[in-house]
Amino acid sequence: MPEVDTSKKEKEFHPEIPQKSELFFLKGSNSYDWGMKNRLARIFNPKSGKTVMLAFDHGYFQGPTTGLERVDLTILPLAPHADALMLTRGILRSTIPASLTNAMVMRASGGPSILKELSNEQIAVDVEDCVRMNVSAMAVQVFIGGEHETQSVHNMTRLVDLGNRVGIPVLGVTAVGKDLTRDVKYIRLATRICAELGAAFVKTYFVPEFETVTASCPVPIVIAGGKKLPELDALQMARDAIDQGASGVDMGRNIFQSDAPVPMIQAVRKVVHEGMSARDAFEYYQTMKNRK
Ligand code: R5P
Repeated sequence: MPEVDTSKKEKEFHPEIPQKSELFFLKGSNSYDWGMKNRLARIFNPKSGKTVMLAFDHGYFQGPTTGLERVDLTILPLAPHADALMLTRGILRSTIPASLTNAMVMRASGGPSILKELSNEQIAVDVEDCVRMNVSAMAVQVFIGGEHETQSVHNMTRLVDLGNRVGIPVLGVTAVGKDLTRDVKYIRLATRICAELGAAFVKTYFVPEFETVTASCPVPIVIAGGKKLPELDALQMARDAIDQGASGVDMGRNIFQSDAPVPMIQAVRKVVHEGMSARDAFEYYQTMKNRK
């Protein structure tokens, strides 16, 4: 039983100060419930409104691809520099220490390997297991125009429904298959479909005229890095994407396949969170690399 409040101090109700009701900082995300917003605020830094996600879920269809042969050796040193880690539950449970406080974005679709038709994915993790792993978002691949387009869209809408029950947002990842063109018209189509059907944020590729992609997508967009580029080019791509409305990057190979992965992710952070130019960030990268 609490003690009786015997304090003689005058109570400070401040009736003259109206309680503030803040809008949530993230584009298109104001109507979600508290838990969903809180998870998004773990992925996107509320100060900059941006995120640096480190993607290393490639093994779910590619196996031990270059740079990911030993996630414990190559990825764990990068974790302190990432806002969020995008990964599979197998790697999370086997390799990622539970003491890490990064937001975890769980790869939640899968099925076919690189040996088969990639669009034939299904939901690959139960939402209850995502709750158990305390994930901040579930990522699902959407193959617009692909052979199994409807099935992959249905994977996403099902995960959105399940995620809404427990407050876990869904990241729609627009896949670019062998036969799909990666042009601005396609990217606008695919990102908008993901948002319309409930993705809380969308991952896609940077293309020319990207400002029309971010303008027509009502939720935040993060860009994938794609194939390994020279470091300056990758930093320039990140700069251009942010300048054209992206809310961050979800980079994999351009970080973990870099000659100096830790300096590279630090340089990417400078671009994304601090507004640094690509050239200055590249100089920073070189300085940090030479310091090793
Ligand atoms: C896409 O299929 C997966 O999410 C990849 O693991 C991720 O998009 C690849 O990132 P990056 O293209 O930057 O290596």
